[in-house]
Amino acid sequence: MSNGETFRIGVLGSGNGSNLIAITEAIERGELSAEIALVLSDVKEAEILQHAKRRGLMACYIAPGKYRTKLDEETEKSYSCALQQADVDLVVLAGFMRILKDELLKSFPGKVINIHPSLLPSFPGVGAWKQALDHGVKFTGATVHFVDQGIDSGAIIAQEPVPLLDGDTPESLLDRIQQTEHRIYPKAIADIAEGRIISKGHRTFRSTK
Ligand code: GRF
Repeated sequence: MSNGETFRIGVLGSGNGSNLIAITEAIERGELSAEIALVLSDVKEAEILQHAKRRGLMACYIAPGKYRTKLDEETEKSYSCALQQADVDLVVLAGFMRILKDELLKSFPGKVINIHPSLLPSFPGVGAWKQALDHGVKFTGATVHFVDQGIDSGAIIAQEPVPLLDGDTPESLLDRIQQTEHRIYPKAIADIAEGRIISKGHRTFRSTK
């Protein structure tokens, strides 16, 4: 922790912000000893910014730059600077739809995490729950992982399976996956904040301390 007191989280998102809500509720319930120092979005009208503002959190839109799927170098620097100025200990991606390439990962080495709606390494990338339905697997799930330069390829921190049911539609399946996400993401963040996650190469271990 940078200030020896509260563990400070920066959240990046492009969409609905349901994981942000789950994290704030876990903090309110005392299950996660942390504070959300900053919420950033690449989408001006994103719900996540509205949720953050309603909860009195510092929330900013930073224009994404010229590319569609990643941040350009200068923009990634702006995100990184904002997070550094907010003195965050952990960068939490929650539906952030752009790939991070360089600056931010260098500024926060081993301190950027993401949640993905499948049991990685199955179904990386967009529409993971639809990929699972199309493939006809019996289980998919949710994965919390460290972010590296690849697509959903960093070391796995936590996973939980979700069964596919016979009557599932993409919407019903995503809904159940997201209920799982809302449980495992705050827990994984708490594990990191409390120093319980140990990394060895591409594996992580949860200590019992
Ligand atoms: C989540 O399903 C997450 O797995 C994916 O994007 C979605 C974000 O949802 N990376 P929300 O914005 O937190 O509601």
